Amino acid sequence: METVEDRLIEKILKKNARIGIIGMGYVGLPLVLSFCEAGFNVLGFDIDPKKVATLKKGKSYLRSIPSSRISQMIRNGRLDVTDRFSLLSRPDCILICVPTPLTEKMEPDLQYIENTAEAIRQNLRKGQLIVLESTTYPGTTEELILPKLESTGLKVGKDFYLGFSPEREDPGNKRFTTHQIPKVVAGVTPRCHEAAITLYGQIIKKIVPVSSPRVAELTKLLENIYRSVNIALVNELKMLADRMGIDIWEVIEAASSKPFGFAPFYPGPGMGGHCIPIDPYYLSWKAREYDFTTRFIFLAGEINVHVPYYVVAKIQDALNTRGKSIKGAKILILGVAYKKDVDDARESPALAIMNLLRKKGALIRYHDPYIPSLPSFRRYSFKLKSSPLTEQLLRRIDAAVVVTDHTIDYQKIIKFAPLIVDTRNVTKGMDRYKKKIVKA
Ligand SMILES: NC(=O)c1ccc[n+]([C@@H]2O[C@H](COP(=O)([O-])OP(=O)(O)OC[C@H]3O[C@@H](n4cnc5c(N)ncnc54)[C@H](O)[C@@H]3O)[C@@H](O)[C@H]2O)c1
Repeated sequence: METVEDRLIEKILKKNARIGIIGMGYVGLPLVLSFCEAGFNVLGFDIDPKKVATLKKGKSYLRSIPSSRISQMIRNGRLDVTDRFSLLSRPDCILICVPTPLTEKMEPDLQYIENTAEAIRQNLRKGQLIVLESTTYPGTTEELILPKLESTGLKVGKDFYLGFSPEREDPGNKRFTTHQIPKVVAGVTPRCHEAAITLYGQIIKKIVPVSSPRVAELTKLLENIYRSVNIALVNELKMLADRMGIDIWEVIEAASSKPFGFAPFYPGPGMGGHCIPIDPYYLSWKAREYDFTTRFIFLAGEINVHVPYYVVAKIQDALNTRGKSIKGAKILILGVAYKKDVDDARESPALAIMNLLRKKGALIRYHDPYIPSLPSFRRYSFKLKSSPLTEQLLRRIDAAVVVTDHTIDYQKIIKFAPLIVDTRNVTKGMDRYKKKIVKA
């Protein structure tokens, strides 16, 4: 006898399954296009009516996604977008890609997942597959979402299917498409597992099945904690190397020649983005339930949070050497995005550096080709617009500080700016201007 699951799997394999994706952000939108382009009909959900309206017009608001990809899918009827959550009963498969930030007290802010789970609960029907993609602590799928969905009277693995599959999007990385990045997938029951694997198998080349959602949840956190800890390690060594008069970049380059047992990580102005500075604390918070303190996470956090202070001290020293005080100094921040060639400034160390400089009385401007004006953030608000990178501006400032290594004209900057404080090694090989360069 054909079961509910057989019917769902058949629909997925025939690409007749309707896909619903909740959260049209950096994670949700590329996923929408992957399913549309694989031949599925997708309904996107977002609480932000502006995003819904923009997408419906066939326009993109993410630099990494050209409008043409969206307009094509809207035109051919594969894609529709809505803020009406009562339509959640329509899709056969629902993928959740909503934010998982921290509260002011650095604890998981689960309101987005909770609200989404509630919206799904109100519309849940037999035969639906629900997969959480948001980064979160081990247990979220089974402790938070599952009881809510089962409170409808429907049973997991029999009436509906539930799983977790973490997103591995790397904004700005053109080497890997969604299709090429292996995807870790787990279901709550064997049937959930099978349904989730079948679904992702339609758009991803290599699926990595794991035994439970908790394993998949912790896998994602391990990946991010690994980066956070290693970035902290090189940031700490950078500060020591500076004191010793050694160039840490040269050291890393030399160590990278080792063909085994060494993966290079690079220092910077601090740590940014909405994942690496935030996600590890989801685990620290959950660890408390097990009487466990995650010391590496806290140590890495402590070091990475300190780096902007170190950068500001280096700026202050460099100005001092040139007979200038930081108060009243005209400082141009180069790049406010959290990483190279992306248009996202969330949790960017540039914000912490600008805030510290402003408190010390510096006059701040910034240039970022991808961020024309700075919106308000969780902790900071600057009413600034990106200044064009003109010769006149570069001659007028006291220092340019490279915070993000965007692809911009560093030759021009070094030629006209009196001082360049470089946190990203963009001045490598510019020995002719050695006297103007301070690595920080
Ligand atoms: N951006 C990345 O590179 C990346 C990589 C891996 C994992 N993640 C994780 O993926 C998740 C989403 O991140 P993102 O960067 O796409 O966030 P985002 O802020 O870009 O997008 C989230 C979207 O969800 C919408 N939203 C919020 N609450 C909603 C609700 N109740 N219903 C419907 N829509 C809602 C928001 O309006 C927004 O458009 C987070 O858990 C994040 O940690 C992000």
